[in-house]
Amino acid sequence: MTDFIAIDGPAGSGKSSVSKAVARRLGFGYLDTGSAYRALAWHVLDRGADTADADAVLSAVAEFPVRLGLDPDDRTVQVGDVDVTDAIREPSVSGAVSGVARVPEVREQVNRLFRSLVADAPYPAVVVEGRDITTVVAPDAPVRILLTAAPEVRAARRAGELAGENAEAVAAALHKRDASDSAVVDFLNAAEGVEVVDSTELDFTQTIDAVLTVIERIR
Ligand code: C5P
Repeated sequence: MTDFIAIDGPAGSGKSSVSKAVARRLGFGYLDTGSAYRALAWHVLDRGADTADADAVLSAVAEFPVRLGLDPDDRTVQVGDVDVTDAIREPSVSGAVSGVARVPEVREQVNRLFRSLVADAPYPAVVVEGRDITTVVAPDAPVRILLTAAPEVRAARRAGELAGENAEAVAAALHKRDASDSAVVDFLNAAEGVEVVDSTELDFTQTIDAVLTVIERIR
């Protein structure tokens, strides 16, 4: 049975890069659940449908041939034969993804996909990162971590990743996405038994070490 290492957190908390680095270090698989929601938003837009229309999203998820790997060194995401790895990071998709992720039946279907990917994984454990992994997808995971950072630090990090972008616009978009996402799942407060790693004062290496320490202590 493959273990879940569940890591939740808001946008810009460093969750993806930290989770990937931790998976690499431990020889585990890595699953970025946000990329599945992004690929679904891309798929809805590609069909010319409205991402705010729950019925349109439901019919899109019924025919959603997404392919997600678990190799931390290969983040390729495909929908059918189309490589959407870069397209799902575009602002148009980031702006639409919360609408898609809000539909409960969509979440159930996507969660089933995550659980089956982990169950069939050729790894002893998979680091699974998202918003509701510690609470909904894998509430019984042996390791559950909430990775947080102060909002201004998250916005500054995100602006640094998107070189050339206006820091204020980045902060505003991040805030808007966090607000709509947290209406669906609470990823700003740790559920009972979830370990908090606050990276506000930590650099990348220190954050990885803090997460590794929690995993070693619990697992
Ligand atoms: O992590 P990332 O920012 O790529 O996630 C993109 C979007 O996918 C989030 O803004 C959220 O709407 C959705 N998401 C979710 N539940 C997860 C992971 C992501 O609703 N477990």
